[in-house]
Amino acid sequence: MIKFLDLQKINAQYQEQFQEKLKLVLDNGWFILGNEVKTFETNFANYCGTKHCIGVGNGLDALVLILKGYIELGKLQKGDEVIVPANTYIASILAILQADLVPVLVEPKLETYNINPDLIEEKITSKTKAILAVHLYGQLAEMDKLNAIGMKHNLLVVEDAAQAHGSPLTPEGGIEIALIPPSGVRGASAYSFYPSKNLGALGDGGAITTNDDELAEVLYSLRNYGSNKKYHNDYIGINSRLDELQAAFLNVKLPNLEADNQSRKEIAKRYLNEIKNNKITLPIVGFMNNHVFHLFVIRTQNRQELQDYLLKNQIETVIHYPIAPHKQACFKEWNTLSFPITEKIHQEIISLPMSPVLNDEEVSKVIEILNRY
Ligand SMILES: Cc1ncc(COP(=O)(O)O)c(C=O)c1O
Repeated sequence: MIKFLDLQKINAQYQEQFQEKLKLVLDNGWFILGNEVKTFETNFANYCGTKHCIGVGNGLDALVLILKGYIELGKLQKGDEVIVPANTYIASILAILQADLVPVLVEPKLETYNINPDLIEEKITSKTKAILAVHLYGQLAEMDKLNAIGMKHNLLVVEDAAQAHGSPLTPEGGIEIALIPPSGVRGASAYSFYPSKNLGALGDGGAITTNDDELAEVLYSLRNYGSNKKYHNDYIGINSRLDELQAAFLNVKLPNLEADNQSRKEIAKRYLNEIKNNKITLPIVGFMNNHVFHLFVIRTQNRQELQDYLLKNQIETVIHYPIAPHKQACFKEWNTLSFPITEKIHQEIISLPMSPVLNDEEVSKVIEILNRY
């Protein structure tokens, strides 16, 4: 069986280093916000080319904390509207709601699955105060256009980079260069280290990166009960700190992220060049350097048939995601709304095996079986 994602294999190569780290943390006896978290925050900020990295409990909290941080700074107010793609993973929308803000759903482009910038301005009202850009499946949203809209309408631009741990500051224009808004002042990005992510921990984990000193100071505090000095609480914070052990494991894995992303790109290039079947629609990839291929998502009319066929041929696939957020039971008031592109995407998408441990032979088999479908 070709697994969709072989997490055992991905982590097996680090087993000894993980065990050394576990011993180190045990010997140290410091389990919350210790040296491993500090080291990771420094290294991940360097990797992303940002001034600050704030380690938090998970990607959802990273988003919630950014929004709450802006509320504390008076840049957002409860009840403000936030533009968000209608086909995102539900966490982006939950984060907006958990910060007492109002999500405004905007259709994506069918070809890239990312928010369609041309449809944003018609949704802007006097209450709209932010855009939550999502780099879905690992492909950078059209940040130049989103930043231009943000500047024109005085909106904050926050990035959900949970699926897009990218390559920093490469001369060819890596993901982080493209993320720098024209003003040169970055907003804030939220990352998830959920185990299946391009940089995955051995449990939950997340981080926020930003160049904004004021925001960073609030966030260091908000994640820790609103306190930067023990038992002195400046804000009504939460408990969402990146776990010391998870930070230790991430410190082991971070140096390989660049090579892992490169392997993903090589596989994606083969899928893009070699899958030739008119029953399958491949994604449009604008610029290879702006995609880290967390997922490789194709479309087909009869998805169940294709998924069954692949499984019969020993190829595992997953659907990201089968139900659009506005059709979820938890959002009853949205269930009757119509987002035709989003709905089409949710009916037709299927994610092919993709990971840095997928070998050439396995990729060839996936391509061959797909071309025979
Ligand atoms: C786009 C997106 N945003 C946010 C999250 C939330 O991350 P986490 O699961 O770490 O809370 C995820 C993770 O699954 C995601 O894919």
